[in-house]
Amino acid sequence: DLHSFPTRRSSDLRTSLMAGNWKMNKTVEEAAGMVKALKAAVANVSDVEILVCPAFTALYAVNNEIKGSNINLGAQNLFWEAKGAFTGEISPAMIKEAGCSYVIIGHSERRQYFSETDETVNKRVKAAFANGLIPVVCVGETLEEREKDITFKVIETQIRGGLAGLSPEEASSAVIAYEPVWAIGTGKTATPDQAQQVHAFIRKLYREIYADAAGKVRILYGGSVNPKNVSDLMKQPDIDGGLVGGASLEADSFAQLVKYSK
Ligand code: 13P
Repeated sequence: DLHSFPTRRSSDLRTSLMAGNWKMNKTVEEAAGMVKALKAAVANVSDVEILVCPAFTALYAVNNEIKGSNINLGAQNLFWEAKGAFTGEISPAMIKEAGCSYVIIGHSERRQYFSETDETVNKRVKAAFANGLIPVVCVGETLEEREKDITFKVIETQIRGGLAGLSPEEASSAVIAYEPVWAIGTGKTATPDQAQQVHAFIRKLYREIYADAAGKVRILYGGSVNPKNVSDLMKQPDIDGGLVGGASLEADSFAQLVKYSK
């Protein structure tokens, strides 16, 4: 039974995390300008962890803007090798030095357009941890998979494969993002119930694999999160935050998400 153990969010166990995935948007100048405005808008927030994930090119400049603030920095991907002849790739140490503490891994767009698999996701996750970065590992079913009623099976395969072989500490500090592919950029959000159902399933599965880490791992929802739907989503016991695309691009709307995400 999905609801057979207590999962109610407690702030000492799991701090909410509101993360903006800027995807392939914003030049260096645009990124720095946005984060400057965001910094002012969220200056008094202390009960929600805030994360922005700009394009690689803007990481360094954004980091300079947010130093000493309550905003954290993440990259949108990394390559697992430390260095060498891998034209076009970015290493964990490179993003770490640019100021990142987080990195998004296995976003559905990378799976769809750039042939990411659970196996490559797992290599990236391990490389992230090995370099002191916290991975935000994305999972989620397509519309076709949901209609075929294989959502849980798809999610289970992605979690077992992508998050295999972690230490107990890594399993606790990892962040999972449930992003139903049909809800990304479509304006079609999963209902709070639909999302909670999958989040509870993920936490139950995580308990099977990683025991007590299941109470600590943060599971974010992603897919058309906006200032109107955020608080109903965040009321769900197993939703610990959001991974937001479109609504994270403007300082105003992202600041609203941060403030309504307790
Ligand atoms: P949207 O919020 O634009 O639907 O994107 C969600 C997403 O993919 C975040 O990683």
